[in-house]
Amino acid sequence: MYWLALEPDDTLRVAAEQKAASAAIRVTVVAGEAGHLPGKDGEFDAVVTSLVLCSVDDLTGALAETAQVLRPGGELRFYEHVRSPRGWAGLLPDAITPVWRRAAGGCRPNRDTETAIRAAGFTITDLDAFGFSPSPFMPNVRHVLGTAVRS
Ligand SMILES: C[S@@+](CC[C@H](N)C(=O)[O-])C[C@H]1O[C@@H](n2cnc3c(N)ncnc32)[C@H](O)[C@@H]1O
Repeated sequence: MYWLALEPDDTLRVAAEQKAASAAIRVTVVAGEAGHLPGKDGEFDAVVTSLVLCSVDDLTGALAETAQVLRPGGELRFYEHVRSPRGWAGLLPDAITPVWRRAAGGCRPNRDTETAIRAAGFTITDLDAFGFSPSPFMPNVRHVLGTAVRS
C-alpha cells in the first residue's frame, strides 16, 4: 500500500515532503492539483481531502474526477470547513468570500461541500459536523469530518 499526496504549492510541497520522509507509511508527494490527478479510472482505494476542497477552483470537476479514480466502493475521506446551513451564520461567510478568497489562496468560506459531494454521486456514510475556530481572532466555523462512498 502507498499514498500519493498532491500539493500544487512549491513551498507547501517541500513541507509535505519533509513530513512524508518520516511517515510510518510510504507517501509519495508530487506536484499537481485536483482535476488533474495522476491516476487511472478505478485505481485508488481512497481519496483524502483535508481543508482542500474550499480552495479548489472547479469543485464539481474535482469531485467528478475523484469518483472516477476511485474503485467501486472506494472512499472519499474529507475534513473541510463549510458554509453554515443556519440562517445568519451563513451570511457572514457569503459576505467575506469575495475578499477572503483573494487573500487566502482561493479559500471560499461559503462552500456547501456536503451538497457538492452528494451531487458528484457519492453517498455520505459518516458525518461529524462541529463548530471550530482556528484562532481566537476568527469566528466559530462549521467543519465536517466524514466518509463518502462512490455509489
Ligand atoms: C488551507 S490549506 C490546507 C493545508 C493542509 N491540507 C492542511 O490540512 O493543513 C489548502 C491547501 O489546498 C491546496 N490546494 C489549493 N488548490 C488546490 C487544488 N486545485 N488541488 C489540490 N490542492 C490544492 C493548497 O496548496 C493548500 O495546500
